Amino acid sequence: MGNNLNFEDTDTILTEDRLFSPPSDVVENANITAYMRSKGFNDYESFYQWSLENRFEFWEDMAKELHWFEPWTKTFEWTEKPFFKWFTGGKFNIVYNCLDRHLESETRHKVAFYWEGDDGSNRTLTYEQLYVLTNRMAKALQNLGIQKGDRVAIYMPAIPEQVAALLAVARLGAVHTVIFGGFAANALRERINDAGAKVVITADGNYRGGKHIQLKKITDEALEETPTVEKVLVVRRLDSEVNMQEGRDFYLDELFQEIPEDTVVPCEPMDSEDLLYILYTSGSTGKPKGVVHVQAGYAVGTYTTTKFVFDMKPEDVYWCSADIGWVTGHSYIVYGPLMNGATSVLFEGTPSYPAPDRWWSIIEKFKVSIFYSSPTGIRGLMRFGEEWPAKHDLSSLRVLGSVGEPINPEAWMWYRRNIGHDELPIMDTWWQTETGAILISPTVILPLKPGSASRPFPTIEADIVDKNGKAVGENKGGFLIVRHPWPSQMRTIYRDPARYQTYWDTIPDVYFAGDAATRDQDGYFRVQGRVDDVIKVSGHRLGSMEIESSLVSHPAVAEAAAIGKPDEVKGEHVKVFVILKDGHEASDEMEKTLKLHVRTNVGPLAVPDELEFVSSLPKTRSGKIMRRVIRARELGEPVGDTSTLDA
Ligand code: WT7
Repeated sequence: MGNNLNFEDTDTILTEDRLFSPPSDVVENANITAYMRSKGFNDYESFYQWSLENRFEFWEDMAKELHWFEPWTKTFEWTEKPFFKWFTGGKFNIVYNCLDRHLESETRHKVAFYWEGDDGSNRTLTYEQLYVLTNRMAKALQNLGIQKGDRVAIYMPAIPEQVAALLAVARLGAVHTVIFGGFAANALRERINDAGAKVVITADGNYRGGKHIQLKKITDEALEETPTVEKVLVVRRLDSEVNMQEGRDFYLDELFQEIPEDTVVPCEPMDSEDLLYILYTSGSTGKPKGVVHVQAGYAVGTYTTTKFVFDMKPEDVYWCSADIGWVTGHSYIVYGPLMNGATSVLFEGTPSYPAPDRWWSIIEKFKVSIFYSSPTGIRGLMRFGEEWPAKHDLSSLRVLGSVGEPINPEAWMWYRRNIGHDELPIMDTWWQTETGAILISPTVILPLKPGSASRPFPTIEADIVDKNGKAVGENKGGFLIVRHPWPSQMRTIYRDPARYQTYWDTIPDVYFAGDAATRDQDGYFRVQGRVDDVIKVSGHRLGSMEIESSLVSHPAVAEAAAIGKPDEVKGEHVKVFVILKDGHEASDEMEKTLKLHVRTNVGPLAVPDELEFVSSLPKTRSGKIMRRVIRARELGEPVGDTSTLDA
């Protein structure tokens, strides 16, 4: 971020004035209402004001609903700003709260996951069965040498073993780093090496949208230069023949032959601030950032937001259509729902395979009551028409959600009308990999405005400021910031604390999220998008520099610049500008070659939609490519301050 604050005065004129108020029975029965009343409040406004002044009391109340091996002694410590700690002195394991605790109640026999494969196959796991699978996997990992503090990379499809893999690692007190299955070998290798992973858990392959993905083959390629990796655990998903390296690679089912079903590996009692996971995300430089989350604070944050934002009740069937490879999957497929004892759906496939009603058929089949999805998913399916959802009985639904990018009012209205029977509330949740949990979002008791993530969650003091940190006031564009740390926030960037500090010193003394936003007279936020060199393609986060470095690693490329352009379905798509080296010709063939190069280097998600060959790129006098200028020229917008532009 640092020197890249390129947000200009784009004060928005708010034309959206529709307001949808919640039905009184929804408000009456909401989880958040029960808590508000227990604190003596009847309206959200006064409760929210109270929560700002009593942040610790709120989070202590929440933390007390979880299981602790030993209670914490200090709720919050901030001795070396911006590094902070929550719930210190406590002994805790998030997995105990996801699994072991539920064995003592009826939840033991409740369904934890209804799984549906890309190919339509199904599996159902109760909490007890997930507990058994997790314990056996923990034992297998232990046998492969994994101990507390070791890092384990997970590169898997969305199958129950993927959920169990995260839980097994965390159970041992080891640290997982999940890498999205859409990343290519180079990207996988870079993340494995940064984390120093000792074991990689993968699968022989999987199907996505009917296509065969060769995960093990990609893993083998990545493992060519990964000095820390000792063993590979392979889950059989396809029964396909894959290369297995003697002494390094082991099939999980073969290891299970020696691990009986009643094997118990007790949860390691962890310090509250011990690492739970590292999740890599893109920033302004070419190198992905290893966002670090810790055991207790992360658990408290994800548990609480799941309960209040989605109004999670014991009888709900919940489905988050994200991938576990992203933070949404970590917080709202795995940890938040399991801590709440929820029944969830886990889906391996894609929204429109074999037909554009795949999602709606899953909602009907499992009687999903809470559906958490993305603007890109909604916009993509919108295009096929209203007849596809209309074929299905979606009456089980009662709460909808959205995350990952701004949802335009048109998509919001379509979602409400066609999926939400013209009456369901949409929780437009704003948050980030770094925040760990939802920070700005309605709860089911708030009136909603289409396209607005509405108001900050209790205790969260968000604001819109200029680059000096001065509040800009109502309906003015500015930078979205948060004033105080919250429990689920990242603690650092793995092995790069200086990079972590930039979040707190770009704008003095506050957390700078990297987004532009406005806030209206009712305190409702509208997040407009990134102001750094992060591009959001279908809600996936890509760094301009990552794509550029991959392009310039091709022998024909001299220089490259990547920008995000508005896209009706994906929110943004990537356009790259390429300068070829002497002796190379611009051609359709060359364009194909370079796109393929990005695909095999970074992964399919980073492939540019547009590629233009150019002979020069605007640069600063110090030689930095000015993406802001390129983007403004491309979109026909005012270029802004170009005083540092060279020529
Ligand atoms: C960035 C964070 C949060 C989990 C998935 C993405 C954008 C996220 C919203 C929303 C507008 C949103 C922001 C943010 N974003 N949710 N509801 N409205 N923008 O996590 O990959 O870390 O990306 O996603 O730009 O900074 P992430």
